Amino acid sequence: MSFDALPADHPLATGVTADAPLVAALEGRAATHRPVWFMRQAGRSLPEYLKVREGTTMLESCLKPDLAAEITLQPVRRYGVDAGIFFSDIVVPLKVAGVGVDIAPGVGPVFDHPIRTMADVDALPALGEPGDGGAMDEALEPVREAVRLTVAQLGSTPLIGFAGAPFTLAAYMVQGRPSRDHMAARELMWSAPEVWEALVSWTSRAAGLFLRAQVLAGASAVQLFDSWAGSLSEKAYVEKCAGGSRAALMAVADLGVPRIHFAANAGHLLDPMGAAGATALGVDYRTPLDEASRAVGGRFPLQGNIDPAMLAAPTATLEAHVLDVLRRGAEAPGHVVNLGHGMPPHADPDVVKRVVELVHERG
Ligand code: CP3
Repeated sequence: MSFDALPADHPLATGVTADAPLVAALEGRAATHRPVWFMRQAGRSLPEYLKVREGTTMLESCLKPDLAAEITLQPVRRYGVDAGIFFSDIVVPLKVAGVGVDIAPGVGPVFDHPIRTMADVDALPALGEPGDGGAMDEALEPVREAVRLTVAQLGSTPLIGFAGAPFTLAAYMVQGRPSRDHMAARELMWSAPEVWEALVSWTSRAAGLFLRAQVLAGASAVQLFDSWAGSLSEKAYVEKCAGGSRAALMAVADLGVPRIHFAANAGHLLDPMGAAGATALGVDYRTPLDEASRAVGGRFPLQGNIDPAMLAAPTATLEAHVLDVLRRGAEAPGHVVNLGHGMPPHADPDVVKRVVELVHERG
């Protein structure tokens, strides 16, 4: 893997994270142990998170570099996981671009103006090019600063940058708020294809700029969260969404970092998700990893897929499940252990820590 396009002081370019277990596994190389991290490892399951978040809204926290760095580091310190996931949110690039959006506690992203027409899309802020010194470039500075602060403290533990996939972002923007089946977005793609195409083109640029800012500031891998893609048929995904995901991931392809593509409930989409610019695939807890690996012809390192509900199980049941995930994951050309979706807010941190220790002992 060549990291020539990265800044000379980037931890992959200097070699500080180049052989970290996470990076090795994502590149399909031998690692000293099976790496493990958890989606939503930072957040409400940690008392130290609740403490530092007191009095600050979610989006304010994301844009305070010291606080975002501290929250990113909390689970790394507590659990000894093999990666930090940058503390931010999929709507942060939209917010800094000037879109009217907030995160309502217990609900999720809520927009002032749902996007339904071409006039709505045309009224979205202009995004510009990375490094052009334009409004978006400047607005992403708190993100870059938070990444720099985090990476300086993480040392040889890689930081994973992330973005929401263009479909998942568009699903929120069209509905204006979280929804169960994303019907408004799924209707728009067929009822007004030109509006849909223009919106996905905008969200894929926003996601691409967000990913690129994080990588240039020091992230050693990226993950695209296409959380709601599982609601799509393969036809809708391939014809209406995969191109946007590919564009977002390709925004960092020249930088040489591993690119993980994750969707929940998406066993039927693993093949097209791999074809959409990923170098590794995140698998939710419904598809066993050996089956997932066969479904993609063994071409991708895989990440996953402990069932988050198992964290509540008796120790013996949980341990047997983790060992089963390790055994099945060994069939892929590389395996990063993770949950098969985000950490439940009520997960017991001591149980999570034991999972990390078990993976490190046995993986
Ligand atoms: O630890 C990490 O994983 C890093 C940070 C992270 C957050 N959101 C922090 C957050 C990441 C990677 C995300 C991604 C994200 N945000 C996704 C994709 C991942 C997934 O879960 O499928 C989505 C769909 C969102 C949108 C969003 N933001 C939702 C649905 C919510 C939950 C709302 C709630 O209160 O239940 C948020 C808020 C959010 N993002 C929280 C955190 C820690 C909770 C805010 C709080 O602590 O009050």
